[in-house]
Amino acid sequence: MKRVVGLLLVCLLGLFMWGCGKEAADQASKGTTDQKDDLIVVGYAQVGAESDWRTANTVSFQTTFVEENGYKLIFDDAQQKQENQIKAIRNFIQQEVDYIVLAPVVETGWETVLGEAKEAGIPVILSDRMIDVSDDSIYTAWVGGNFIKEGHDAVAWLDGYLKEQGRQDEQINIVTLQGTIGSSAQVGRTKGVEEKLPEHPNWVMLDRQTGEFTQSKGQEVMESFLKSYDDIDVVIAENDNMAFGAIDAIKAAGMDPGEDIIIIGYDAVKAAFEAMIAGDMNVSVECNPLHGPRVAEIIQKLEKGEKVEKIQYVDEGVFPAETAAELIDSRLY
Ligand code: AHR
Repeated sequence: MKRVVGLLLVCLLGLFMWGCGKEAADQASKGTTDQKDDLIVVGYAQVGAESDWRTANTVSFQTTFVEENGYKLIFDDAQQKQENQIKAIRNFIQQEVDYIVLAPVVETGWETVLGEAKEAGIPVILSDRMIDVSDDSIYTAWVGGNFIKEGHDAVAWLDGYLKEQGRQDEQINIVTLQGTIGSSAQVGRTKGVEEKLPEHPNWVMLDRQTGEFTQSKGQEVMESFLKSYDDIDVVIAENDNMAFGAIDAIKAAGMDPGEDIIIIGYDAVKAAFEAMIAGDMNVSVECNPLHGPRVAEIIQKLEKGEKVEKIQYVDEGVFPAETAAELIDSRLY
């Protein structure tokens, strides 16, 4: 009898301990579920992975919108196709995300899908590039660079550089490697340069073609420019990666980029500083990609019910080759 009672006690104790353990485990898992439920879900419709700038931009979002900071990020790479971004946004709406962030490939064609997001009550924050719409209530805020000003800055730098070289009265032949046609970065930079050209009647824009913001297409287009024109003085590449492609094409044609042909890029990525230090590139006009924390700040304000500024420009600089060696280590992207 004693043995039976002893056995029963052992069983009861075991059951009690199992119960306690289960409760603790249930509590712990409930804790993580509750925490997960508290996360702010952000869908990011990214352009693609076409450039160093874009990679830095993606990393900026992926390191900001993490669980430790209270977010769950759903990231979509549209491979430079607007139709993929539209699909991604519809998926975000279906998943009932809290916010949609869009870096639009091109400026036009957003009314319908962003109207759907508005209808679903999901705020849309534009980052990097802009959209061209008649009703700006379909987005909550935009943060990015001033692309027209970047074009003006490129012209001002070239003007000063030519004066320094005593070439201000020479005919200066220019070609432009344009970004993705219809993207704000292309539209703004092309427009910024265009607006200032009449102030320089001795500058001739020989040609413009898109290199789609990629190094390989930039190289391909530059090769064809070099076949068509034997007197190019300046290449304006609407991003650094296309400038790198142009540099390769110029070297392959037996010329010295940075010396025989002036190379202007946009973005000011680290690799441009390396190209400037190597003497291959003359200047890079900054376009800052680190928008993750800026968008997070907007979301935090919205969460608190605060007002946010609709249009937020980021400060950007101009980095000529002479500054590259000193500044390269301080560059964050
Ligand atoms: O919209 C920003 C531009 O897009 C950057 O200049 C370019 O490198 C990127 O692909």
